[in-house]
Amino acid sequence: MIVIAQKRVALLPPDVAYAERLFALIDDSRETLRTWLPWVDAARSAEDSRQFLAGVAEGARSGSACASWLIGLDGELAGCIDIHGISKLHRSGFLGYWLADRFVGRGVMGEAAAQALDAGFGALELNRIAILAGVENVRSRAVAERLGFIREGAQREGLHLHGRYHDACQYSMLAGEWRARR
Ligand SMILES: CC(C)(COP(=O)(O)OP(=O)(O)OC[C@H]1O[C@@H](n2cnc3c(N)ncnc32)[C@H](O)[C@@H]1OP(=O)(O)O)[C@@H](O)C(=O)NCCC(=O)NCCS
Repeated sequence: MIVIAQKRVALLPPDVAYAERLFALIDDSRETLRTWLPWVDAARSAEDSRQFLAGVAEGARSGSACASWLIGLDGELAGCIDIHGISKLHRSGFLGYWLADRFVGRGVMGEAAAQALDAGFGALELNRIAILAGVENVRSRAVAERLGFIREGAQREGLHLHGRYHDACQYSMLAGEWRARR
């Protein structure tokens, strides 16, 4: 049995041992998740989740442009969070996240994102972390705004999902701003 840290919200390193539980989580919430996450339709089996986890675990070892964590809540797997598009040159990256339906509306992502930002501005030594959220993705934009991200503007048709373009809000947080808030 896999034991997830007993803290309320914990970021867990990706491990293929979570593949079946991760796939079940995605499968249960796929209708909600696919609205804003383009990879959901391609996640069709636990083997797809195993390959995803193996890839991010290998990326973590080899210092890839993406740092990913599973989100644990009181012993259950709740979702995922990552910092992707990391530029070591510019010391910047993008925060991405999702929660299974039954964990939404409980403040889980606010806490998980705070921990990911601590890692991004800490061990990963980033100076800037951005969030790109569809203008109509009200819940994701609220996560960014509650954390104190600054809205920089809108990308016109910055997202292409299910055959439709969506304008996207770009937010950012700088290392000094995050330290001042913590
Ligand atoms: C985006 C997403 C992660 C937001 O989840 P969320 O649960 O709304 O975000 P938070 O963890 O910040 O929780 C805030 C909510 O919890 C409530 N809450 C309850 N207890 C809380 C607590 N102790 N602390 C903070 N908030 C709490 C807040 O009131 C708020 O609810 P409300 O918006 O209904 O008022 C989720 O909607 C999701 O996974 N969406 C699909 C994927 C997606 O769009 N990803 C982002 C792509 S850019």
